[in-house]
Amino acid sequence: MRSILDVQNIYSGYGKIEVLHGVSIHVEKDEIVCIIGPNGSGKSTLLKTLFGLIQPRRGSILFFGKDITQAEPEEMAGMGISYIPQGRNIFPSLTVKENLEMGGSPIRHAKTIEQAMASIFQRYPILENRRQIKAGSLSGGERQLLAFAMGMMVQPKLMLLDEPSLGLAPKIIEEIYEEITTINREGVTFIIVEQNARKVLRLAHRAYVLELGKNRLEDTGEGLLNNEEVKRLYLGG
Ligand SMILES: Nc1ncnc2c1ncn2[C@@H]1O[C@H](COP(=O)(O)OP(=O)(O)O)[C@@H](O)[C@H]1O
Ligand SMILES: [Mg+2]
Repeated sequence: MRSILDVQNIYSGYGKIEVLHGVSIHVEKDEIVCIIGPNGSGKSTLLKTLFGLIQPRRGSILFFGKDITQAEPEEMAGMGISYIPQGRNIFPSLTVKENLEMGGSPIRHAKTIEQAMASIFQRYPILENRRQIKAGSLSGGERQLLAFAMGMMVQPKLMLLDEPSLGLAPKIIEEIYEEITTINREGVTFIIVEQNARKVLRLAHRAYVLELGKNRLEDTGEGLLNNEEVKRLYLGG
């Protein structure tokens, strides 16, 4: 079976600084794949590179077998990849509805945007109730839900989430992860980057550990949860 995403030997960075030194990952259909690793190990850089925000210097990225190594973010979104950056960049001065329209902007047809918005509102009544409210006045959990819903507007096949739990209360984190599990069961594949490793490893089918811009370990979520070294280094003993 062909992988949804096949990433081979990626070198990537910022200007003269090389951050990723040959990272390889693969993601199969309907998987939740998680990427953990210490601060500064290149997790966010990897997601930015996968989404075309940074062009890799070497290596290849295949999406359903198609070479997308040089594709731009807009094309990625058009092909069904969505990316939710670390720190959830919603537009605080725009309303909830306008934010969702921004999320849907890679969609060409106004009618399709309308349909996507209707299905988001059906799924998340709280966003519909707040649709005319400025996103800046939402709670932390509601902002994360909005960021997530913006990513859902393109009806993605693959979602890239950078630290979705960052700065949220434990109860809200549970809700976000439950939502991820539900959407995954509906056929959306996920790559999730997290510092909060223990929680995400429980729901991940497979996981990678990055260290200093290189692959360090790869196993099932459960395998890494029970790995003594991972426990010691990343799960607080
Ligand atoms: N915009 C940038 N310009 C230059 N260096 C950056 C930039 N963003 C991140 N870095 C550097 O890249 C390295 C990896 O960062 P990052 O991918 O954000 O790691 P992680 O998400 O694993 O914490 C760090 O050393 C960081 O300082
Ligand atoms: Mg990061």
